Amino acid sequence: MEIIKARDMGFCFGVRRALEMMEEAVCKQGPMASLGSIVHNRQVVEDLRRQGVEVITDPAEAEGRPVAITAHGVGREVMEGMRRRGIRVVDTTCPIVSRSQQWARRLTEEGFAVIVFGDPNHREVRGVLGWTGGKGLAIPDEACLESLPRDLPSRMALLSQTTETGARFASFVKKLLETHMERVSELRVINTLCNATSSQQAAAQELARRVDLMIIIGGRDSANTRHLADVGHHEGVETHHVESATEIEPEWVNGRRSIGVTAGASTPDYVVDEVVARLQELDRR
Ligand code: F3S
Repeated sequence: MEIIKARDMGFCFGVRRALEMMEEAVCKQGPMASLGSIVHNRQVVEDLRRQGVEVITDPAEAEGRPVAITAHGVGREVMEGMRRRGIRVVDTTCPIVSRSQQWARRLTEEGFAVIVFGDPNHREVRGVLGWTGGKGLAIPDEACLESLPRDLPSRMALLSQTTETGARFASFVKKLLETHMERVSELRVINTLCNATSSQQAAAQELARRVDLMIIIGGRDSANTRHLADVGHHEGVETHHVESATEIEPEWVNGRRSIGVTAGASTPDYVVDEVVARLQELDRR
């Protein structure tokens, strides 16, 4: 049996960088806190906790410790509030997210209505909106464009949540113009997409087409891991989503010639290694 790993999977550059920064900071400065969890993955959060990084939900819980901002970033008020309180900040905001935040700030200052195409409850989107001084808004899908607030400035700027797809963002821009052309005096579209997600999805699709079973590894609450599983189902190959090696059932593997393995952006490499080792062990039985 051949086990083939997707050419692109697991932690994206932004999460790897954030994790390294937190590990280095806890090593040099001692116990610290992280404002929210670094990724949607219990194992990663638990590993960090053992090293001395506790997840908090409010800077008020810092209790004198340095506080790490995760790769998702935070709004300006949160950042400035922490600095005012004298909290040492370890800022691991992904540079691609920082760029989006700076566009949101600059465009708001220039008088544009900043509209972010993305999930209003997602931490990254809330953080980006936090650089618009409360003036920006997030719209999760095209259908919501019908109810665009009447009092928006006619100069509009569109940004996207970094993990959206190019096709969906392009369609959203088109729909906004079709629906509200008479209200728009100027439109700026800033490409704030990150290709880490689309690259992993393309790699999963390519792999799903040439194997007879796909194993997708990642947290059940990780949206991008679930999207990878959808890719497998869509390609018509038997696909199982697991969080760890212990969930793999021997009968999945029986009689397979090739198994494809991929992992969501919040899955650490060692979990992938454990899954591959488990598959090899079942193959030897
Ligand atoms: Fe950054 Fe893209 Fe990852 S925005 S955190 S590299 S998915």
